[in-house]
Amino acid sequence: MEGKGGTHSAIAIDGPAASGKSTVARMLAERLGLIMVNSGAMYRAVTWEVVRRGIDPSDRGAVAAMLDDVEIACGIDGMHSTVTVDGRDPGAELRSDDVNRAVSQVAAVPEVREVLVAKQRAMLAEGDLIMEGRDIASVVFPETPYKLYIDASEEVRRRRRAAEGQSDEVGHRDRLDSARKTSPLKVADGAVVIDTSDMDIAEVVEAAVAELRQRGWFEREGAEPAI
Ligand code: C5P
Repeated sequence: MEGKGGTHSAIAIDGPAASGKSTVARMLAERLGLIMVNSGAMYRAVTWEVVRRGIDPSDRGAVAAMLDDVEIACGIDGMHSTVTVDGRDPGAELRSDDVNRAVSQVAAVPEVREVLVAKQRAMLAEGDLIMEGRDIASVVFPETPYKLYIDASEEVRRRRRAAEGQSDEVGHRDRLDSARKTSPLKVADGAVVIDTSDMDIAEVVEAAVAELRQRGWFEREGAEPAI
């Protein structure tokens, strides 16, 4: 599947934890009138179920086996992606300490990625979208020309998470995410890197819009008028 499926286009946003990519993705989606898909929530939902069932997240076989026994449903509500596990919405528990601790191990299981990447690609049928994650430009939509990599120093990212009141070892999670064999976090071919360490959010959004303009986002087939 390509980044341009039929008349629909995807903007891929990747980057490490707490780099600001979710905020940028949300603001860009609102400004450009696009569906916003948070792929991390899907990995977190699977992890929530792993934790709930008391499965050891480092036991790849057990995590993979659970997939045959659970219904992970990804949908769209208005302009946002949703995810349920056997019909239940994990809500705020997606960001619990238990999930933060285990998610990188669960996300490294190839069977988990296979199931979720298929669901992510299928979402392009719903309309033009922005999807944020770790492997969106490299694996999910490698053909899209609209690839942004949002970065920030580890120190800045740790401070941002702490300011949100979350205990999240972002550096540890990034090292696991970057080191895994299947679809590691990396700057994809053709992606532009935006380092947000010394930028405020409005500046980041402007930089992203400028980059998308340069890459022809506003001239593509079926595009909304340029803003
Ligand atoms: O984006 P967020 O920090 O919520 O993602 C949680 C975790 O899910 C990441 O640390 C990573 O292990 C995993 N993830 C992934 N691929 C994606 C999105 C998230 O492996 N596309």
